[in-house]
Amino acid sequence: MTEALDRGELERAATIARALALEAGRRARAAFARPKRVAVKGRGNLVTDTDRAIEEYLRAELAAAFPGYGLLGEEDGGELGDGPTWVVDPLDGTRNFTAGIPFFAVSIGLVVDHGPVVGVVHAPMQDETWQAVRGAGASLNGDPVRASTADRLDTCIVGVDLGYSPVRAGFMLDLATALWPDVQAFRIPGSACLGLVYAACGRYDLFVHHLLYPWDLAAGLCILQEAGATAWDRDGNRATITGESVIAGAPRAAARLLERVRGLPWRD
Ligand code: IPD
Ligand code: CA
Ligand code: CA
Repeated sequence: MTEALDRGELERAATIARALALEAGRRARAAFARPKRVAVKGRGNLVTDTDRAIEEYLRAELAAAFPGYGLLGEEDGGELGDGPTWVVDPLDGTRNFTAGIPFFAVSIGLVVDHGPVVGVVHAPMQDETWQAVRGAGASLNGDPVRASTADRLDTCIVGVDLGYSPVRAGFMLDLATALWPDVQAFRIPGSACLGLVYAACGRYDLFVHHLLYPWDLAAGLCILQEAGATAWDRDGNRATITGESVIAGAPRAAARLLERVRGLPWRD
């Protein structure tokens, strides 16, 4: 059953999630400079001892501070129940991290009945932290953020990422081909969580991805929503944490993008 949380509980959750994301970020930053132990989970999909250690740390702290809440994490799994559930990506952008590219993030979302109510995304190398509480707006390092209001596609920076499925990556390449040269630029961040929050604060006008998981989406969807961004799935329905695809950012430009790519054969 859905268990509503009042504003005070949501604010407490955001404050604690932020503190944990900052500490997790300090650990990731320290580990970035050291040799890494890397294992392969799938094509292009890596995991390091740092991903695992940070998730273990977040699990222990969140369980202690929020007894009774569920927890789903990328590395150790968990259940996505209807009650309050933390959804955690301990290190988003692991491929960047292992390559020495300083662009990765810690993502902590709280969902109730699968709906995002708190989101924190922290990029340790840039010392940037996006945060949102449902109904209370979104911020970057404490300053309010709003999504782009771009209307025309030809002024848009569109963030995209290919993910780990060759089929879904093919959808993205088809999309890029269909849009080019009628958007201004494409960017591939290599961290979907940062792609989402870049769209929330207007750095990207739009961000598109065809295969994301709840831990990639939970925090970012809350931040996008609170920043006035559109967040749809690739069929134009409201994006959900289990819906996999996302088209997010400037509402009018997102509508134009969707119109342009409708009819592409996006079926597995
Ligand atoms: C991945 C990154 C990547 C995106 C993948 C994600 P990970 O997360 O966000 O940019 O394209 O779809 O799975 O494995 O680094 O946490
Ligand atoms: Ca990860
Ligand atoms: Ca991820």
